[in-house]
Amino acid sequence: MTSATSLFSPVEADLALLTDNLKKLVGARHKILYAAAEHLFGAGGKRIRPAIVLLLARATLPDQGITSRHRRLAEITEMIHTASLVHDDVVDESATRRGVPTVHSLFDNRVAVLAGDFLFAQSSWYLANLDNLEVVKLLSRVIMDLAEGEIRQGLKHFDTTLSIEDYLEKSYYKTATLIANSAKAVGVLSEVSTATADNLYQFGRSLGLAYQVVDDILDFTGSSEVLGKPAGSDLRSGNLTAPALYAIEEVPYLKTLIEREFSEPEDFEQAIELIHASQGISRSRQLATDHVHHAIACLSELPPSDSRQALEDISEYVLRRLK
Ligand code: IPE
Ligand code: IPE
Ligand code: MG
Ligand code: MG
Repeated sequence: MTSATSLFSPVEADLALLTDNLKKLVGARHKILYAAAEHLFGAGGKRIRPAIVLLLARATLPDQGITSRHRRLAEITEMIHTASLVHDDVVDESATRRGVPTVHSLFDNRVAVLAGDFLFAQSSWYLANLDNLEVVKLLSRVIMDLAEGEIRQGLKHFDTTLSIEDYLEKSYYKTATLIANSAKAVGVLSEVSTATADNLYQFGRSLGLAYQVVDDILDFTGSSEVLGKPAGSDLRSGNLTAPALYAIEEVPYLKTLIEREFSEPEDFEQAIELIHASQGISRSRQLATDHVHHAIACLSELPPSDSRQALEDISEYVLRRLK
């Protein structure tokens, strides 16, 4: 985790403030939510999304510094992300997150659903209070997209007809939409040109897609300790991600194993071995690399600054997580 945080140095103090604020904003109303908020915002989230928002704020307004509305946007972005994780962990039945037990396993599903709803609702309220209709449209669209992404994924378990394009589209809805639209929203708040705002959107979209591809590779190659959440569960639950989809093209027998939902002894272990022996992981790595390079190219028209450099470094860091 330190490798991520040292990249955020131009906004390190701002992020510390953000974490404090999030605990206060979310926890003030209900004791149980305070416990959930302490738990969620006190734990080891990488805070990559608010860091991107704050760095883009600096990079788009180099002479002015980060405004209070940019700060609020960063908070809203992390709130939406955290809400989606609380719900995602219920859907995925995951026991750990950010190195600690998930809300639903610490409390129960009821509390987790309510806590996630509360975070979404609260993010909408703070969003509306930014008093900028364009930004409201961008971020409320995200909340809709996140639900769409989870639904799409939920409907396609063990479906070996899924294409890489379907997978990327679903990943846009699940992950890239938040980074893309919050990046564009920074541009709107900074009153950049439409062309620049669109560039920021493309930056976030490509980085977000790469981020999900990398997360999906790490589910095959990473350890639960390092990830702070259970590894190796996507394939088992039938969530077919880039490494599996590429491997299926190469090893048709994988389809058989997946379609019978690993019902025979050793099916699952065999599938994992076949995927590791195939080009699935290296092709996924290439897919992520291409998206990161595109993301970095989208930054090229911003004036050079420490913050722009940090954004480029964060983009590279996304790939370095694989090393
Ligand atoms: C997890 O996001 C969900 C994905 C989109 C891969 P992060 O890996 O950014 O999670 P935190 O915020 O650091 O816990
Ligand atoms: C990310 O999906 C969750 C959202 C973006 C809503 P994953 O299911 O891949 O995330 P992890 O692996 O649980 O962090
Ligand atoms: Mg999950
Ligand atoms: Mg995952």
